[in-house]
Amino acid sequence: MSRLLVSRVTVLIAAAGIVLAGCGDSTGPSENEEGWNQYSVDDVTFEWMVDDSLAELNSRITAPTSGWVAVGFDPTSFMSEANLIIGYVSAGSTSIRDDFGTGQTSHDADTTLGGTHDIVLVKGSEGSDPIQTQIEFRIPMDSGDDYDKALVEGTTYAVIFAYGSNGADDFSSGHVYAESVSLEI
Ligand code: HEM
Repeated sequence: MSRLLVSRVTVLIAAAGIVLAGCGDSTGPSENEEGWNQYSVDDVTFEWMVDDSLAELNSRITAPTSGWVAVGFDPTSFMSEANLIIGYVSAGSTSIRDDFGTGQTSHDADTTLGGTHDIVLVKGSEGSDPIQTQIEFRIPMDSGDDYDKALVEGTTYAVIFAYGSNGADDFSSGHVYAESVSLEI
């Protein structure tokens, strides 16, 4: 390989690293023990696997809070137009809501906006040592709802993560953490 080609490859690899890294401390994407993709940024871990036969995205988000946790796909700016999935565990029961980013710092339930709830909750759990909440769910790659975003496997999207304060078991309080990264789904 010529020296020029090597340096171009190095620049491309470095550029790809920047695109995938986001702003916080990140690890991955790598493969977890189930063969799912896994990516961590700061103390948030996101795992996902495209189920081709069902045209669904299996996802799991884990964050260090006993309040709500959320992931959003394909925002245009901050939270705007993101397909948001927000969940929390309260007294052993898990609640999850299909939301849409109605502005840079606002969101509402798809059903309130005239759309549909398109999430299948698989399970949720909460731990106290360390404090964490984990929500596992499935969404269609393309629900057809105006308030979701169609996802195409192999495409890189902005993906946002956020979580609320301990005990914030609701869909409306603000976050104590929010981050945006680029991930190939
Ligand atoms: C009612 C609930 C929410 C309120 C009041 C709220 C409010 C805000 C505000 C004021 C900002 C700009 C300043 C900042 O960075 O803190 C922001 C940014 C942001 N929010 Fe929210 N938010 C809410 C829910 C969510 C949810 C559910 C997500 C889902 C992932 C989210 C993701 C983000 C992201 C990624 C940013 C940009 C952070 C950055 O680039 O530094 N937010 N939000």
